[in-house]
Amino acid sequence: MGQIAPIPRLNRLAYGGDYNPEQWPPEVWAEDLALMRAAGVNLVSVGIFSWALLEPAPGEFDFGWLDEVLDLLHDGGIRVDLATPTAVPPAWFRRAHPEARLVDHTGTILGGGGRQSFCPSSPAYARAATRITEAIATRYADHPALVLWHVHNEYGGVNALCYCPASTRAFRDWLRERYADDLAALNTAWGTSFWGQRYGDWAEIESPTTGPTTVNPAQELDFLRFSSDAHLANFRRERDILRRHTPDVPVTTNFMLANCKTLDYWRWAREVDVVANDHYLQAERADNFIELAMCADLTRSVATGRPWLLMEHSTSAVNWQPRNVAKRPGELARNSLSHVARGAESVLFFQWRAARFGAEKFHSAMLPHGGTATRIWREVVRLGADALPRLDELRGTTVVTDAAILWDWQSWWALELAWRPSVDLDYRDRVEAYYERLWRDRLTVDFAHPEQPLDRYPLVVVPSLYLTTSAAADNLHRYVDRGGTLLVSYFSGIVDAADTVHPGAHPGALRELLGLTVDEFLPLRAGETTRLDGGLVGDVWAEAIDLAGAESVLGYVDGPAAGRPAITRHTVGAGTAWYISTRLDAAALAPILTQVYAEADLAPPAGVPDGVELVRRAGATADYLIAINHTGDDTVLPATGVELITGVSCAGAVAMPAGEVRVVRLDRPT
Ligand code: GAL
Repeated sequence: MGQIAPIPRLNRLAYGGDYNPEQWPPEVWAEDLALMRAAGVNLVSVGIFSWALLEPAPGEFDFGWLDEVLDLLHDGGIRVDLATPTAVPPAWFRRAHPEARLVDHTGTILGGGGRQSFCPSSPAYARAATRITEAIATRYADHPALVLWHVHNEYGGVNALCYCPASTRAFRDWLRERYADDLAALNTAWGTSFWGQRYGDWAEIESPTTGPTTVNPAQELDFLRFSSDAHLANFRRERDILRRHTPDVPVTTNFMLANCKTLDYWRWAREVDVVANDHYLQAERADNFIELAMCADLTRSVATGRPWLLMEHSTSAVNWQPRNVAKRPGELARNSLSHVARGAESVLFFQWRAARFGAEKFHSAMLPHGGTATRIWREVVRLGADALPRLDELRGTTVVTDAAILWDWQSWWALELAWRPSVDLDYRDRVEAYYERLWRDRLTVDFAHPEQPLDRYPLVVVPSLYLTTSAAADNLHRYVDRGGTLLVSYFSGIVDAADTVHPGAHPGALRELLGLTVDEFLPLRAGETTRLDGGLVGDVWAEAIDLAGAESVLGYVDGPAAGRPAITRHTVGAGTAWYISTRLDAAALAPILTQVYAEADLAPPAGVPDGVELVRRAGATADYLIAINHTGDDTVLPATGVELITGVSCAGAVAMPAGEVRVVRLDRPT
């Protein structure tokens, strides 16, 4: 473990957020600057939704206000993450190009007045986006405040899929490339002999709009791949323009891990200079900090362990959930520092100043409607001006991880297409249950692509990897054979990349590795449960398993699979492959995981109260323990070193008051 390169051009942990001065009279800007400095703000994202102001008529530009804002920020010592404003084309674009409007799967043309209401495959959009990007890059390439480019905003956020004629044409082009111009190969991959769907000409292929019955799942799956790539092409176009003008300024765009299902971020992450993420708390969930940690770990993982930016989160309530529960005192810091603990080199918010008008006026901000006399403002200042500067030395250190969970967008897409064996099959539910178990056991997780090397992990968990390519299956086999411990959840290894069932009995791709066959899937009725030996209770799913080398660890006591194995273990080479064939929640997984950890030689830290989050960081000169107390009780943790937020030395124990965060630079044994 050692030091990793920090993000170029950011010399501190970044603090700030989206700044929309165009929504305010210029008199307010000076106050913004003064308050930003008071809060420790050092980076703001500017211009994200300003296309209509910067280009008020086609090809006519007005940069006056933005010049002034950037100069003001620079004079105030605040760096700028400058956006290309291409997420919202101006109204004149919509009027001039009705053919570029977004069309949903029912064929409905979607309206304007909001954002991202354009077709991602529109040639007119591509031309217009190129023009504004060129203009911005030309004008600001040498501006001293510029440290980062923020391309677009949340690609695919609300216009992920478009079914207009231009999209269909682009889909056909994409298919010709995927199938090397070989229509017979497409017919085979899509299984078009089923329901007489054979295509004799590329022009016959349509986007999978709503039909009288379900559409070919392989066609749906390719359409999802195409759509992710269509947005990626838009990103690349802008990125390449920016790189040409400013080869030394990193380019990013804000992802929405793990809540955006429609973009394959493994592919996307390779294309950005710095991975950036937006995360919004699922406010109503009592244990929402576990989901936050999961998204942060996934972000670090797509960034292949390199530092990443938390581009947006909220100081308190958002405005778009059914009940926008406000954060409690201290929650802002706990949330922010959990991201930092897991590799973020920034704490950025949407947004700097609460908007008085528009759809987001009830969204929290760094500077609330009530100004500096508010609790949120006080917490914003405490975090940015006081705590964060003391944590700068975490930059460039690595997060110490214990295990990997496989994650694959394409498998997620495939698993949740229509006409699966049960509507209760839910990809995120399985990932979250296993993640929660490991989080509660204080094991830190990397997410891994199914085909990537896994040898450095003593334990790899596979939650419902329905789509398993042969390359992934071989990878998992190799991993176990060399001594790894693998834990596979039901409905894994079923189909290949074209959603075609692997030959023979389920789970085709993993049958040999798991040492069993599934005679039949036995989905349960809504609300039905099935008991296992040892008092465990599953729901949603059961299977009729025949052992073929594996041993049964626990059997089904009742339900449709009564008397048959429910949880199995198979020794392969130097390792073992475990299989869990029913849906267990995180609590029910505990006794099984205890055995699996022992097999993997993993020893979760003992004696830490439930609800206390621990992350370890390793650096070239020091190691760190970051502890976040999500409970209402004070506690004490074993640690010797210096606590960075309070500056207090601790010998053997660090006090963890309820709701607080502690970061200890650990003494290294001499
Ligand atoms: C994000 C978006 C921001 C803002 C925020 C509100 O999805 O990027 O512009 O709308 O949500 O939570």
